[in-house]
Amino acid sequence: HTYKVGYLVGSLAKSSINRKLAKALTKLAPPELQLHEIRIGELPLYSYDYDADYPDVARLFKQAIADVDAVLFVTPEYNRSIPGALKNAIDWASRPWGQNAFSRKPSGVVGTSPGSIGTAVAQQHLRSVLCFCNSPLMNTMEVYLQTTPDLIDDDGNISNPGTADFLRKYMQEYALFVQRVLTVLPRES
Ligand code: FNR
Repeated sequence: HTYKVGYLVGSLAKSSINRKLAKALTKLAPPELQLHEIRIGELPLYSYDYDADYPDVARLFKQAIADVDAVLFVTPEYNRSIPGALKNAIDWASRPWGQNAFSRKPSGVVGTSPGSIGTAVAQQHLRSVLCFCNSPLMNTMEVYLQTTPDLIDDDGNISNPGTADFLRKYMQEYALFVQRVLTVLPRES
């Protein structure tokens, strides 16, 4: 069985280290996971004024989440929390009330930053948000990755074999988690 995984990158920066991390995770994932990015950068700022009639970009974004078996958040930490762009995207996908695209959708949270705590605080905030959104969230493993220069190249190759092994193991654990959740909570067809 294969699983479609949509990953959301919390950064809009062209040279985002978290997008590089997402590429690395895509390469290291076991073959049963098919990863692709669900982009958040074109979304306008959410307001419930849109609830009656979502703009196309938001409709497509929400549909993209509905279409995958699981989501993976790869996010930087901005001012000890998640970037505003990511929170905005989550708010779009969670509304209108009663049509929350994250409900029962398994998720994982990882991130990297040059700081030594490696996005730990942002990830805790994101976990609270996903909890409220009724997304079954993988508890462990956790990935608080401190970026060092040249750790990950633009194509997602990792220079440190120990880090590559750790991330490969994370993706294996994540695949098992997704499989377990979908066994108990099959997607509505
Ligand atoms: C940061 N950075 C940062 N790093 C961190 O570890 N904790 C933090 O709270 C913050 N705060 C913060 C706020 C803002 C507005 C910016 C722009 C940056 C540094 C951050 O980790 C660094 O810029 C990374 O390169 C961000 O990841 P992306 O965007 O390159 O994926």
